[in-house]
Amino acid sequence: MIKRAALIGLGTMGPGIAARLSRGGLDVAAYDVSDVAVERASGMLDIAGAILDRLDIKAPASGAGTVRFVRTLAETVDGAELVIENVPENIDIKAETYRAIDPLIGSSVIVASDTSGIPITKLQAHISHPERLVGMHWSNPPHIIPMIEVIGGEKTAPETVATIRDLIRSIGLLPVVVKKDVPGFVENRVLYALLREALDLVERGVIEPEDLDTCVSWGIGYKVAVIGPMALLDMAGLDIYKSVSSFLNADLSNRDDVAPMVLEKTGLSKFGIKSGEGMFSYTPEQIKALQGERARKLVAVRRILEGQE
Ligand SMILES: NC(=O)c1ccc[n+]([C@@H]2O[C@H](COP(=O)([O-])OP(=O)(O)OC[C@H]3O[C@@H](n4cnc5c(N)ncnc54)[C@H](O)[C@@H]3O)[C@@H](O)[C@H]2O)c1
Repeated sequence: MIKRAALIGLGTMGPGIAARLSRGGLDVAAYDVSDVAVERASGMLDIAGAILDRLDIKAPASGAGTVRFVRTLAETVDGAELVIENVPENIDIKAETYRAIDPLIGSSVIVASDTSGIPITKLQAHISHPERLVGMHWSNPPHIIPMIEVIGGEKTAPETVATIRDLIRSIGLLPVVVKKDVPGFVENRVLYALLREALDLVERGVIEPEDLDTCVSWGIGYKVAVIGPMALLDMAGLDIYKSVSSFLNADLSNRDDVAPMVLEKTGLSKFGIKSGEGMFSYTPEQIKALQGERARKLVAVRRILEGQE
C-alpha cells in the first residue's frame, strides 16, 4: 500500500488534502512555487486537523503520517510512490509540471491529477508513462467531503485506477470510479447543469438569488444528501418523471455559452468571496464568520449522515 506521497500545489485544495492523507497514515512531502502559499498551507494544517478530530477521523493503528514542506520539486518527489498534481486548472501549467517531474520519478510512480474536469486523456500527452497517470478529483473542502472521483484516461492502466481506488478506500474515504473520461467527469457535470439552470432563472427574473438558494438548499440539496438522484427517481415514481420531463426538458436552459450575468460580474472583478463581491457582497468579518459556520454545519451534517449522532 502507498505510504509516501508528494503533493504539488498548496492553494485552495492542497492543505486539506495534505491533512487528510497524513491522518490516513501517509507521509506527505508538500511543495508550492509560492512562499505565501506554503506559509498559508502550514497554518491551515492545524485548522484542518481540528476539523478531522471533530469528524472523529482516526489515524490507522500504525499511526498518523507526517506533512513536510519542501523547497524543490526534486525533494518533493524523492521516494514518493504517488505524486498528486494540484496546480491551477490550466493545461499548460499542468503539462509543464509533468515535464518537470518526468525525469525525477521512476516508471512505477503513479501521478494523480486533481483536475476538476480536463480530460485525463488530454493530460496524458504530456507525460512519458501515461499508463500511470490518473484523475483523483477531490471535492472542496477536501478534508471534509469524503467522496473522490477516480478517472482513467485512454492510456491509464486498469491497475493504476484500482490502486488509487483502493488507497482512497483504505484511508476511509469514498472512491467513485468514473468509467468514461468525459469533460467535467460526473460531479461537475451534474453541478454545472444545476448552476446553468439556476443562473438562467435568476437572469430571467423568475426568482431572487436569495430565494433561489433557499429553494435549492431546502427543497433539493438537503434531500439529495440523503437520497441520491437515481433513488429519488424511484421515490418520486418514474411515471411522474416521464410525464413532467416530457414537457419540462424542452423548456430548460440549454445555452452553451457563459451566462451574461457571470461575464458582467467577472468583467468588473467581482469574483465572489475572494474579492468581497460576486452574486452577493461580503465584508471581511462576514467572510470569516461564513467560513466557520459552513465548516461547522458540514461537519454536523456529515456526522448525522454517517450515523455518528
Ligand atoms: N478549488 C476547488 O473547489 C477545487 C475542487 C476540486 C478540484 N480542484 C482542482 O484542484 C486543482 C488546484 O485547484 P486550487 O483551487 O487548489 O487552485 P489554487 O489556484 O488555489 O492553487 C494552486 C496552487 O498551485 C501553485 N502553483 C502554480 N504553479 C505551480 C507549479 N508549477 N508548481 C507548484 N505549485 C504551483 C500556486 O502557487 C497555488 O498555490 C485544480 O486543477 C482545480 O481544478 C479545485
